[in-house]
Amino acid sequence: GRRLTVRDIAAAKARGERWPMLTAYDAMTARVFDQAGIPVLLVGDSAAMVVYGYESTVPVTVDDLLPLTAAVVRGSSRALVVADLPFGSYQSSPAQALETAARFMKEAGAHAIKLEGGRRVVPQVEALVAAGVPVMAHLGLTPQSVNTLGGYRVQGRGESGDELMKDAKDLERAGAFAVVLECVPADLAERVTESLSIPTVGIGAGAGTDAQVLVWQDLMGLTPRPARFVKRYSALGEELDRAARAFAADVGSGAFPAREHTYD
Ligand code: KIV
Ligand code: NA
Repeated sequence: GRRLTVRDIAAAKARGERWPMLTAYDAMTARVFDQAGIPVLLVGDSAAMVVYGYESTVPVTVDDLLPLTAAVVRGSSRALVVADLPFGSYQSSPAQALETAARFMKEAGAHAIKLEGGRRVVPQVEALVAAGVPVMAHLGLTPQSVNTLGGYRVQGRGESGDELMKDAKDLERAGAFAVVLECVPADLAERVTESLSIPTVGIGAGAGTDAQVLVWQDLMGLTPRPARFVKRYSALGEELDRAARAFAADVGSGAFPAREHTYD
């Protein structure tokens, strides 16, 4: 089979199909999610927290994310791989955005990029699209702006919902192929979804978006206190804890390694 492309993503909206997106940061999980049929894998700057142990996405760099992106591309064969541009790597100018995007495509093999913001990044989106870079936009709770948003809280309530709608339309006009809506009221996400011809990808945005995305460690139960919008489909944290303790006990007692794990 071939890689999915942004044309396939556009066709899904035309057919009224909902689709899933998951984050991935390494080759083995990328392969599992790819073989499970997840059509779009995002190498999120959430790697700042789930891979690198930072408190927010602000500190993570292009050099931190490039090798993770390359691993996800190598580990997958069907999924479209989207690389998140980290904070500070695209805001200065359209030229800076294109330089950074080109690194993710040339050095890591990414098929598309994602960046955060509304009308303030429209010049960047236009430059990238003109250069042949598919762009996924991201509105609502944009974690790279946590210091101006004043925390991780719901966005787009009341009047600011109209601003978000306008941003979404501006991004569509600029050529974005999809837009992530993070932590916004469900009715606003639904109205944006109906108003756009490009797909919306919700996270904490209710059931009315075209697609849904979650950070895989949240979905699989590795995150200690996940947000309200997370549904846990696995208890991987508890499973890893159980297995680590069992290994430790077996090493302590001498039960591991047994004959079958041993070379004569
Ligand atoms: O970095 C990330 O994982 C994201 C998704 C949650 C949309 O931006
Ligand atoms: Na992100």
